[in-house]
Amino acid sequence: MYERTKALMARGANFLGSDWAILCGAMSWVSERNLVSAISNAGGFGVIACGAMTPELLDTEIAATRALTGKPFGVNLITMHPQLFDLIAVCARHRVSHVVLAGGIPPKGSVEAIKDSGAKVICFAPTLALGKKLLRSGADALVIEGMEAGGHIGPVSTSVLAQEILPELAADHLVFVAGGIGRGGAIAGYLEMGAAGVQLGTRFACASESIAHPDFKKAFFRASARDAVASVQVDPRLPVIPVRALKNKGTEEFTAKQIEVAKLLDSGGIDMGEAQLQIEHFWAGALRRAVIDGDVEAGSVMAGQSVGMVTREEPVAEIIATLLGECEAALAQRRAA
Ligand SMILES: Cc1cc2nc3c(=O)[nH]c(=O)nc-3n(C[C@H](O)[C@H](O)[C@H](O)COP(=O)(O)O)c2cc1C
Repeated sequence: MYERTKALMARGANFLGSDWAILCGAMSWVSERNLVSAISNAGGFGVIACGAMTPELLDTEIAATRALTGKPFGVNLITMHPQLFDLIAVCARHRVSHVVLAGGIPPKGSVEAIKDSGAKVICFAPTLALGKKLLRSGADALVIEGMEAGGHIGPVSTSVLAQEILPELAADHLVFVAGGIGRGGAIAGYLEMGAAGVQLGTRFACASESIAHPDFKKAFFRASARDAVASVQVDPRLPVIPVRALKNKGTEEFTAKQIEVAKLLDSGGIDMGEAQLQIEHFWAGALRRAVIDGDVEAGSVMAGQSVGMVTREEPVAEIIATLLGECEAALAQRRAA
């Protein structure tokens, strides 16, 4: 089944140790034992989102995921986590096969520490130059993620990143494409451009096996592409890290908060450090409130623009089968033309 897709995904699937080169990108609070094991059991590649977990919590999560699947899965670590090297040690102890480093350039020694454990390292490449540098520093594969994606985003779209990076790197290296992929036709396109595989988040966030709160899932089913907006920075002095999420009361209040803090700064009511801290802290705990507590008004309902293609709860295996069927049909149609 899906022979054309299988052929184009062979390099990526071989690297991941999965049937299909389809990663479910780590999603904090969502990508825990249940979703991760379901993805891997269905032939994709699940990735645990470590997020702000302590080494002890990560240890428990890896063990619990192992108990639910015999298939390979990865762990996503955020590079600025204060205990990054302890987290790497936890992954090493569990002989995790793939570690994904997210959230910035990996600090000195981190790629080496992961490779010493025998694991493969996957890094995010925001530009071609950085992609080349990461590969020179030992990254085994790259993910290029466009601004259509849910969660923290860069400024460039997936289609442009793919055109800039795949022709340069994809023949000799493994590059996975992420951001805005909702259907298999898009997967076919990126595979034909040389991608080793793809990474999706939004499309899997509301799978039956996802523990996300029913109200979080309902918000996804109701939303269209234009509801998934990037956070807006109001004042050049107060940096805002761009995050794509469904617009709600929280996103409106965030704009109001920035204006209020900027005014306080102007009047000398607070200093720059305090002002920036207030902005930074606004969303603290907000993703958890949305995913776990179901507060979709004040919480951060991170979602990509492909959210409009997520219309109901489906088991992971069905989502993967749909994507593969669409990809295969698109490839067959092109051959026939
Ligand atoms: C709810 C949510 C939470 C996310 N959390 C993380 C995270 O903790 N670490 C990370 O590297 N990426 C995170 N992402 C990005 C995904 O791993 C994935 O790369 C992205 O969703 C792919 O784009 P798509 O949403 O258009 O499919 C998150 C995405 C969503 C939707």
